[in-house]
Amino acid sequence: MEKPLMSTPSNPSISTLESETFVNQLISWYEHQRRDLPWRQTNDPYKIWLSEIILQQTRVKQGMPYYLKFIQQYPTVNDLADAPESEVLRLWQGLGYYSRARNLHACAKTVSNELNGKFPSEFESLLKLKGIGRYTAAAIASIAFNKPSAVVDGNVYRVLSRVFGIEDDISEAKTLKVFEAKANSLIDKKAPGEFNQAIMDFGAMQCTPKSPACAICPMSTFCYAFNTGKQDKLPVKTKKVKVRNRYFYYFIYEYGNKLLMKERGPKDVWQGLYDFSLFESTESLSEEAILKEGANQQGLMVMDISEEVKHVLTHQRIFTRFVRVKVKDLGNFESLSKSKSLKAYELDEVQELPKPILIQNYLQKEIF
Ligand code: ADE
Repeated sequence: MEKPLMSTPSNPSISTLESETFVNQLISWYEHQRRDLPWRQTNDPYKIWLSEIILQQTRVKQGMPYYLKFIQQYPTVNDLADAPESEVLRLWQGLGYYSRARNLHACAKTVSNELNGKFPSEFESLLKLKGIGRYTAAAIASIAFNKPSAVVDGNVYRVLSRVFGIEDDISEAKTLKVFEAKANSLIDKKAPGEFNQAIMDFGAMQCTPKSPACAICPMSTFCYAFNTGKQDKLPVKTKKVKVRNRYFYYFIYEYGNKLLMKERGPKDVWQGLYDFSLFESTESLSEEAILKEGANQQGLMVMDISEEVKHVLTHQRIFTRFVRVKVKDLGNFESLSKSKSLKAYELDEVQELPKPILIQNYLQKEIF
């Protein structure tokens, strides 16, 4: 007997009709609810790229002032490429994930020096540039160049898994392809940038992780999660990120108007930013043990030990205490500088150095 000619989608809730309705409802929702954002008033690839790099792992509200500062300081990709890296890092200060800023700068140099100041328009060519992954390449290609490449991020996982009942585990790498295929099958070929930004806003404003606004949602009649009460079960995510605790003890050696600092190296957080002499431990230390590590030599006077400050990153929690140490004479100050590979900076130079926000906050509160 012949098999019946019937398609059996992996989830019975997915149908062509619902896909069409979804796209129409999404675009109509976006027309009424879209956020008025500065990078939506242009299709200059440089500005679109800059906004997308800033918005990686960052909320719109937090990223907006940085976008405006960067556009003001560097109106073109050539201006950004020509800036010193320390200036770029300083402008980035407070946004976190500083490798983004270094990649941003490297990418600007490539575009300016090797591509005649022009961003490529194809997804695959964009992907070759530093700091541009699949999401960002799709966003730039669609928003700036009208190419039909769909973005997939946390918002898209949430919206599509809920509406269409896609239950693949998003902690598995292979699941990205499932959602990319679905999003690419839905994308509005005439207005791909609008479609992508509509789904971003819909995920951020309506179909939120906690307490989505289902009561006023135009998708609720056909939404799989709403109709099965599974809003808080979708998207499926089994693996939690592993978080490591680190304990940072900073020694701030002062002599007159000068502090000893150093530039952080590669392969750890905050590369290229400046901090103080650091003793790191895998566990919390007593004050006595802390002082032993950096303040028990002759000629040093401990002025203060701060309370612990907690700084949370994606894969690590950094617990920090600052020890303020006055160095009694210049000879000691210079030998400390040599033995610990630190450099002396006047306070007004310290102000100008790019620093982790944790350091900046401490300096602001206690020293400047
Ligand atoms: N998040 C990432 N890109 C975005 C964009 N273009 N608009 C709003 N939120 C975003």
